[in-house]
Amino acid sequence: MAIILAIETSCDETAVAIVKNRQVCSSVVASQISVHQQYGGVVPEVASRQHLETINPCISQALEEAQLDWDGIDGIAATCAPGLVGALLVGLTTAKTLAMLYQKPFLGVHHLEGHIYATYLSEPQLQPPFLCLLVSGGHTSLIQVKGCGEYQMLGATRDDAAGEAFDKVARLLKLGYPGGPAIERSAQGGNPDAFALPEGRVSRPEGGYYPYDYSFSGLKTAILRLVKQLETETSPPLPINDLAASFQETVARSLTKKTIACALDYKINTIAVGGGVAANSGLRKHLEAAAAKHNLKVHFPPLKLCTDNAAMIGCAAADHFKRGHTSGLTLGVKSRLAVTQVMDLYQKSWV
Ligand code: KG4
Ligand code: ZN
Repeated sequence: MAIILAIETSCDETAVAIVKNRQVCSSVVASQISVHQQYGGVVPEVASRQHLETINPCISQALEEAQLDWDGIDGIAATCAPGLVGALLVGLTTAKTLAMLYQKPFLGVHHLEGHIYATYLSEPQLQPPFLCLLVSGGHTSLIQVKGCGEYQMLGATRDDAAGEAFDKVARLLKLGYPGGPAIERSAQGGNPDAFALPEGRVSRPEGGYYPYDYSFSGLKTAILRLVKQLETETSPPLPINDLAASFQETVARSLTKKTIACALDYKINTIAVGGGVAANSGLRKHLEAAAAKHNLKVHFPPLKLCTDNAAMIGCAAADHFKRGHTSGLTLGVKSRLAVTQVMDLYQKSWV
């Protein structure tokens, strides 16, 4: 058994959770959305300062809600990569200090491995192998999950991440930040077939296309051109809801098509979806329908586990801890780190 106190501060949520294996004992998320809203996006320096102010109250609240004190904690974990360096440093330094103070093992956790583990919290019986479609603000990847710390990248975006595309298009349509939920709300009142938009494809130098790779920058440019064209050709207001619905539909269709093709080609019959965009109802609808058609299982975590939280970080840490993996107190933060390098975070001598 492993009871882990986990900290997540890689972007704009200060989150602390206590997790017992795959069960959430408490999960506190202090969102910074209202702080960054005035700037139209996350300001890294503001995020770090905000984490500093919020982290200690979040830790106290997590312990109180789990009705535990430090004696009941087996290990302390924090996200160490990838993410905003200053923001990551707040969580990592806090976790290392607590580990020293209370003489507990310390574990650094890869943020994307956390998103993969979110599905285990709602599906504790889930076992690898499965395919994870990871769609967040910074990443869009198809990852074959073979075991704890064992990942193979099968597909990725070549430019914008899916969440980034939602955020940029929302800004363009003046729908505000964060873009994903704003587009989703607007799309509910629009026609998804109003505009035909290009699904991004990534060409191979030798001809043809990479079957599981994504590209969203062309779609963003197509929306920009369309808005400019509509502004000159039609009288206001712009059909914002139709634009949002058509954009969401195109992203959902593209993500679904490549995920299903990948699962079928690699003969993987279970798909887990993770990251903020997994909260999107358009994607859920498309992927669930396509998976059912091909007799594949698809798991979406509950909405609060799709976006950034510390419960998923604790769940990943608990699995590593049970295998004897711990990190050295010299571990630093990294703005970028491939998910295939997760095992670099743990001291080999403990394995
Ligand atoms: O996983 P996440 O919370 O943070 C990162 O690791 O990046 O994902 C945040 C991203 C943002 O780009 C946000 O706009 C998007 O997820 N997002 C959504 C929805 N909720 C959040 N995108 C589409 N539909 C949503 N309902
Ligand atoms: Zn995330």
